[in-house]
Amino acid sequence: MADKRVAQIAGHLYPKGMLSGQVAIITGSGQGIGAEAAKMFAAEGAKVVVQDIDAAKANAVAKEIKDAGGQATAIPGDMLNSEYINELVKKSAEFGGGKIHIVVNNAGFTWDGVIHKMTDKQWDTILALHNTAPFRLVRAAAPYFRVKDGEPRNIINISSTSGVNGNAGQINYGTAKAGVTGLSKVIAKEWGPQFGVRANSIAFGHILTRLTAAKEEGAFVTMPDGSKVALGIPKAQQEARASTANLDIPLRRPGTAKEAASVILAVASPLFSYVNGQTIMVSILSEP
Ligand SMILES: NC(=O)c1ccc[n+]([C@@H]2O[C@H](COP(=O)([O-])OP(=O)(O)OC[C@H]3O[C@@H](n4cnc5c(N)ncnc54)[C@H](O)[C@@H]3O)[C@@H](O)[C@H]2O)c1
Repeated sequence: MADKRVAQIAGHLYPKGMLSGQVAIITGSGQGIGAEAAKMFAAEGAKVVVQDIDAAKANAVAKEIKDAGGQATAIPGDMLNSEYINELVKKSAEFGGGKIHIVVNNAGFTWDGVIHKMTDKQWDTILALHNTAPFRLVRAAAPYFRVKDGEPRNIINISSTSGVNGNAGQINYGTAKAGVTGLSKVIAKEWGPQFGVRANSIAFGHILTRLTAAKEEGAFVTMPDGSKVALGIPKAQQEARASTANLDIPLRRPGTAKEAASVILAVASPLFSYVNGQTIMVSILSEP
């Protein structure tokens, strides 16, 4: 009901869509939160670059958008590969007629372990994917953001409540997701005053995707060296926390990928035109 009302108001103000004519790169948009954001952005008139390491999934999302009458292209690849990131920016600008307005740094996964057992590889990979890759993408896209053409420019970095409140077992992820907050704030201060660029972080809590599904479901990420990292939370751990898991969530339930993506759209939209350098919590109050 509330969703419909917002859509009606926004539709009245922006009849061609809130992101009409804007070109958006969304990393990790082959599934989960990113895929939902890609579809919502396209429905609001954006030309969407669907980026993911999983080419089949990226292509499927781009096809779904095009079949629904939207504009999208898939440029799949590994965000841990810096040459590919330069290629991604070049091809995105070609697709966008020489412009890029929005970058959503969303690609990511968790590779948990307690502090005394965390390997260098776990640590390095998670910081590289959640901090270094977004920095490289923003740096490569700088010529498209440091412009004065009167059009909006937006960078949205996906953080986590682990990065704001901490979370046992996530020393790598919590540190990296805290780094995301700094990334957004620095961009806001460097590119906001002169170019009007907005850069914000969104720190999600518990959103229902494969990252938070039971580990036993078997989802995994394949590393560049061919090794596999299992995703999800072990069932036993989920069951042990079942009675207390939602206590710090004011709505007492996890969010859906669509609800999470709606926040990304909201932050990218003109409705947030005066919000810059912030970390938006969605939606946990405090982590014990
Ligand atoms: N699900 C949650 O509860 C939650 C909570 C807080 C933050 N987040 C963050 O939200 C973002 C999206 O996660 P999700 O829950 O939708 O997970 P997801 O696994 O459904 O989607 C993440 C996507 O990122 C892609 N990806 C992973 N490594 C990549 C790489 N090297 N290069 C390119 N693409 C890569 C994956 O293929 C996948 O399609 C992540 O940054 C995650 O850390 C999620």
